[in-house]
Amino acid sequence: MAAISPADGPVAVTGASGYIGSWAVHDLMEQGYEVRACVRDPSNTEKVDHLLAMNDRDLGGHVELHAGDLFDRGSYDDAFKGSCAVMHIGATVGYNQETPQQVYDGCFTEVEHLIESTKKAGTVKRFVFTSSFAAVGHPSPEGYVFTEKDWCDDNRDPDRWSDEHIAENRDIAYAMAKARAEKMIYAMAQEDGGFEAMAILPLHVIGPLMCANHDQGWSWQNCIKYMLLGKPYRKSKGGRMLWNNVDVRDVGKAHRLCAESAVANNASRYILSASDRTGELFTWELQAKLKSLFPAIEDIGGEHMEEGKPKEKTYDSPRSYCTLAQEELGLTPYSIDETLRATVDSYIELGLLAQ
Ligand SMILES: NC(=O)c1ccc[n+]([C@@H]2O[C@H](COP(=O)([O-])OP(=O)(O)OC[C@H]3O[C@@H](n4cnc5c(N)ncnc54)[C@H](OP(=O)(O)O)[C@@H]3O)[C@@H](O)[C@H]2O)c1
Repeated sequence: MAAISPADGPVAVTGASGYIGSWAVHDLMEQGYEVRACVRDPSNTEKVDHLLAMNDRDLGGHVELHAGDLFDRGSYDDAFKGSCAVMHIGATVGYNQETPQQVYDGCFTEVEHLIESTKKAGTVKRFVFTSSFAAVGHPSPEGYVFTEKDWCDDNRDPDRWSDEHIAENRDIAYAMAKARAEKMIYAMAQEDGGFEAMAILPLHVIGPLMCANHDQGWSWQNCIKYMLLGKPYRKSKGGRMLWNNVDVRDVGKAHRLCAESAVANNASRYILSASDRTGELFTWELQAKLKSLFPAIEDIGGEHMEEGKPKEKTYDSPRSYCTLAQEELGLTPYSIDETLRATVDSYIELGLLAQ
């Protein structure tokens, strides 16, 4: 089935105002696409001004705003009509007080609505879903290297990780929903025959923010901001975590590469993570790297340290590399230094590092 090009018509992007969605829009415009940026409220200037400003920057393409709510059946009909591809990047990700069960159920409702609008349009050739590395990862031995062949719902450790925990654990609800929504979309595309579906599976996404709204509480970039403010990293016990980093610009771009690829086809999935071990850093290593890149920042927080050394050893997981995206899609990832510099520079430029 044909891959897309700008000559095939507009590309619709859900969640276009968000961190990843905005970079997907930017990348499409750089390639000369007409972009239909779908947002809940086109009049919310804090969320859309940076998108509209792209029209003044001679990027090559053009963006227009379309209103759509993922929970409103039919609200994407207009945006998808005549579009050659859909990038479904928007999501209720569970940081706005949704319960785990709501996160799980919502993912399928959203997808069902969008597939209905896709079928109605009859012009969409490629449907690219932003899944997550969560749809791959699950409790595993230290050092295990995850690939696109892994699925979180293999339930290899049923005591800690199975359907029974969905209602009580947001991470399990989110992971299972992403995995099963992927499978559902691939099956729907297969049955329809008119379009192909594929997925991008990001890990820890960091990189430049385009506006203050991209500094969402508890996002990875927001956690880095707190470290830059000298505060401890609180998302995992003792601040201990293996950060497996990918640049938000690479994640945005991978969506287009997927839609344009002659190699990708229905059910192709691509992990977007570090490209090699240089992008995988324990929190104390990330802290040290930030210190070396930004010596002027006095105090950089992070992991619980004692006498300059980590207080405890970090569990060595998740290891995973975006090798398939490089081989099949031709992605050339940013280096970790480029990504961290751009992340911090954007926080400084947006004036978000003031205490
Ligand atoms: N960031 C990561 O590290 C990461 C890692 C793995 C996977 N992902 C996935 O990547 C996708 C984008 O994440 P992100 O980091 O870019 O998050 P984000 O900045 O919070 O963006 C989420 C977007 O979803 C939209 N949205 C939320 N509820 C909606 C609804 N009911 N109807 C329509 N739109 C709605 C929001 O639009 P409004 O402007 O209308 O609020 C927002 O633009 C998500 O699917 C997420 O699961 C992210």
